[in-house]
Amino acid sequence: MTLAGKRILLILSGGIAAYKGLDLIRRLRERGASVRPVMTAGAQQFVTPLAVGALAASHVYTDLFSREDEQDVGHIRLARDCDLVLIAPATADLMAKMATGLADDLASAVLLATDRPVLAAPAMNPRMWSNPATRRNHLTLSGDGIRFVGPMRGEMAESGEAGEGRMAEPMEIVAAVEALLAGPSARPLAGRHAIVTSGPTHEPIDPVRYIANRSSGKQGHAIAAALAGLGARVTLVSGPVTIADPPGVAVVRVERAVEMRDAVLAALPADIAVMVAAVADWRVADMAGGKIKKRPGETPPPLALTENPDILKTVGHHPERPRLVIGFAAETDDVVANGRAKLERKGADYIVANDVSPETGIMGGDRTEVTVIGRNGEEHWPAMGKDEMARRLAGLVAGVFDGT
Ligand code: C5P
Repeated sequence: MTLAGKRILLILSGGIAAYKGLDLIRRLRERGASVRPVMTAGAQQFVTPLAVGALAASHVYTDLFSREDEQDVGHIRLARDCDLVLIAPATADLMAKMATGLADDLASAVLLATDRPVLAAPAMNPRMWSNPATRRNHLTLSGDGIRFVGPMRGEMAESGEAGEGRMAEPMEIVAAVEALLAGPSARPLAGRHAIVTSGPTHEPIDPVRYIANRSSGKQGHAIAAALAGLGARVTLVSGPVTIADPPGVAVVRVERAVEMRDAVLAALPADIAVMVAAVADWRVADMAGGKIKKRPGETPPPLALTENPDILKTVGHHPERPRLVIGFAAETDDVVANGRAKLERKGADYIVANDVSPETGIMGGDRTEVTVIGRNGEEHWPAMGKDEMARRLAGLVAGVFDGT
């Protein structure tokens, strides 16, 4: 009874995946949770309140302006009399409402009024999921502290189209609920400090120009979030990125590699260092004080470069070296051999090597495929979302600290 006594407010919105909501209710109740359902008008087109209410053994709340419902608990109490608000399925429409703070029906009003953790299981057509509007809303909601489980890749129930958008399976949702509501045993990194670097660095040429790379920060930020999710105190040292800060993480923003090194060293001591940032290998030797002018007829100015500090190597050989040091290796050739050489040279315990050849779409993309190289062997992890890879890596970290 992993969820004994937990009260879950389950919001079902209008998608075909609402049918999986019925099984979800059973799974949650099997584990000891009580489930109070709220259904949008759309959800009622797919499953009936009668079925939902019977499985939940509860009144089903559907109407913001129902005198009966308001007298019974009222939408403000509904929003707070629970341990978790779970949205499954979460449609593109409901996500858009949440991101803008609309509250024109019971589900959206409850979501605006709640002070409880919110977990959403999106379900929609892959095109809707990848639409820039939904991308923006997802980012906004993540920044607001909303947690997500899924969506998964797979075939859509209605169109047979394949892609990312299918709702996570009930058991995956239950696992996410358990992780969110779990006590100290699910926080194996409580009391540990982790430093994570993320994003690119910008190396100035003059006050207006800089050298950069294509790193988005998605992987590093996801790892910071995953470590925090397991209870670690996380210092995220981030280069310039456009993605939201992960919730529950202290973010130090830097631009240049030397600043990143200084921020990392200032954050020591730490138990864990995960250096994910795509640090520029070189910086311009003498940054011009003013904008370099283009003068007609003159040859372009040469750019003399000088080497940047290697932050991973510095940390890997530091007197205050964290117990666990993990580096990344973005390679286009001989991925594993180069990763292993890097492990030795930089004093890391693990190198996560990935192939960033342009055709892989890994750099800047949402998915990744890596080989984790340790001192005693290596493990290939199949292609997966960067969030999932982050959770697996955080699990590996927790394993290292298990029982010590
Ligand atoms: O040598 P390379 O850049 O391929 O090594 C990649 C690993 O080293 C990554 O973990 C990256 O964050 C780290 N690194 C660093 N400082 C540098 C260059 C790389 O921390 N100047």
